[in-house]
Amino acid sequence: MENRGKNVQAVVCTVAVGAALLLLSTTTPSAALAPTAAGPPTPAAAVPTATITIANFQFQPAVVALDQGGTLTVTNNDGFPHSFTSDAVDGADNPLFDVKIPAGASRTITAVSALGNGTYGFHCRFHPEMTGTLTVGTGGPVPTHVPAFEQPLVQPPRLSGKHLRIVMRKQKVRVLPHGPRTPMWTYGGSFPGPTIVRRTGRDTRVTFVNHLPRKVGAVTVHQHGGHQAAKYDGQPMDHLIRHGHRMTYDYPLVDAGKPLPAALRFYHDHRMGRTARNNWFGLQGMFLTTDPGDARRGLPHGRFDLPLMFTDRSFTQDNRLRNPFRKMSMPMPAARSMPPMAGMSGLAATDPSTLPSVGTKVLVNGRYAPYKYVEPGRYRLQILNASPFSSYDFSLSDGRPFVQIGTGSGLLPAPVTRQDILLGPAQRADVVVDFRHLEGTDVLLSSIPRTDGSTTGIGTRDAALMQFRVRGTTRQTARVPATLATIAPMRIPHHVAMTWTFGVSHDRHGAYWSINGKRYDPTRVDHRVTLGSTELWRLRNTSDLTHYVHLHEELWRTVSRDGRRPPPWERGYEDTWRLDPGETVLVAARFTDFTGDFMVHCHMLDHEDDAMMATFRVVPKKG
Ligand code: C2O
Ligand code: CU
Repeated sequence: MENRGKNVQAVVCTVAVGAALLLLSTTTPSAALAPTAAGPPTPAAAVPTATITIANFQFQPAVVALDQGGTLTVTNNDGFPHSFTSDAVDGADNPLFDVKIPAGASRTITAVSALGNGTYGFHCRFHPEMTGTLTVGTGGPVPTHVPAFEQPLVQPPRLSGKHLRIVMRKQKVRVLPHGPRTPMWTYGGSFPGPTIVRRTGRDTRVTFVNHLPRKVGAVTVHQHGGHQAAKYDGQPMDHLIRHGHRMTYDYPLVDAGKPLPAALRFYHDHRMGRTARNNWFGLQGMFLTTDPGDARRGLPHGRFDLPLMFTDRSFTQDNRLRNPFRKMSMPMPAARSMPPMAGMSGLAATDPSTLPSVGTKVLVNGRYAPYKYVEPGRYRLQILNASPFSSYDFSLSDGRPFVQIGTGSGLLPAPVTRQDILLGPAQRADVVVDFRHLEGTDVLLSSIPRTDGSTTGIGTRDAALMQFRVRGTTRQTARVPATLATIAPMRIPHHVAMTWTFGVSHDRHGAYWSINGKRYDPTRVDHRVTLGSTELWRLRNTSDLTHYVHLHEELWRTVSRDGRRPPPWERGYEDTWRLDPGETVLVAARFTDFTGDFMVHCHMLDHEDDAMMATFRVVPKKG
């Protein structure tokens, strides 16, 4: 039995929304459940200070639990020097802690007090057979329930020509490991749709053909994070592809004459009022631009580079998708007393189908709970949260950090070592995970409750996502260079040209999600920008729910978050920001190449469909 999971009775997801904690529970067939297995030895409850004694070439105790921020002392009673060294290393290949302890000496391991929640393996670097585990805080990444991992991870078919054709059609696809396949609305017959893989800077045309069932209506395709003419941007009400029709989109993959930074972006439906439904039923695919320089820099590539799309769905007994959109109105949602999701705490806690587009099962590249055999080397995981509504806080089961090398819009200036990575809808992270020295073990990738201390806004899923099975040997020699990308310097204007306020507004029909007090109106332009100019914008959230705000079209950079320099992982290019209640983020971009209308919106798709969207228009220079 390879699964090192805990007791499993049912698949349970908790979704924290606002202050309310909803417990959703569905019973799955027992075949989908892992048998009970004895877990690893459980350490005693965490304490603020702990001591480990080394005697006779052993750590005693070898299993230790410490409060986050606590103090750990290691005393060496042997007549030989030992070391207290983490198994995991950071981006520069340095252990997270590594302290030499001479014979008869005691050392406080100061690096330990800075560690995040997690379980960290440790050893002595002079005597590698001396090992133990240190659990910090709650131990972090232990999802409530761990499923059996019964199907392999798959990659969608790849398309890489300069003129691609993707036929949208209904197709039964394998999602759950057992039972019938699931009918979905697909790009090209698979879910996710084919991964478009293109070297950045190379013009790419994609003809999308709408052979979806007639009732789906007209659709529109947006390359999220792309930079393309307005008519190819997936306008929500314009340039639509009607049933039986086609449209060719042109993606130059160039910005102001330079190749767009290589990254994992995605393409998805963007139809006004139907985006959540159309994405839920399958209209999502990955768009991966590549840069041959990445491999030259030493980053993992080829089979060591895995694009991973995470998204959640709910299913009926016969493996069909639940349809949370039955009562949907078109094209604009009807007024109601509360904006959708604002009154979550009032919803019945037991029926997941009452939650708009929050699924009980998280899928990875379209499969529920997959496993992946990996070699004991370094892997680049390009992670996309394509869920309609949920956020995930990604974490590895053994305290192993991610070395984040990029956002979803290109490499960061320098790698950042992170214990967990919080991604909301449409956000991406480009990370390197080090599986070296782990032969024979299984590493779980989970979503854990938020660890950033946020008590307001929206929480994250508590779910085991996939399992890496480290086997065999490898000759791979990838590494993470100390510097990655140069983010072109830009003169940031002093004054804020536009403030976008995400909040709740009221009219005589009731409450609705709004931007600057308004709901989306395709006939209204909310802000005008001159082509070639650089603008500083303010994004603020006055509601009591988190929003994930997406700006189309340009290479945005984060200037500040709540008045401070953004954290190191927000110092590259971005297109989607988390805005917790009360937060203000300043962003800037130069408006290059294309005039026309582009969108500003919340990427929680229920909010977007509720018209939490606005338009900025890029206009030509006068004269
Ligand atoms: Cu990913 Cu405007 O959308
Ligand atoms: Cu929102």
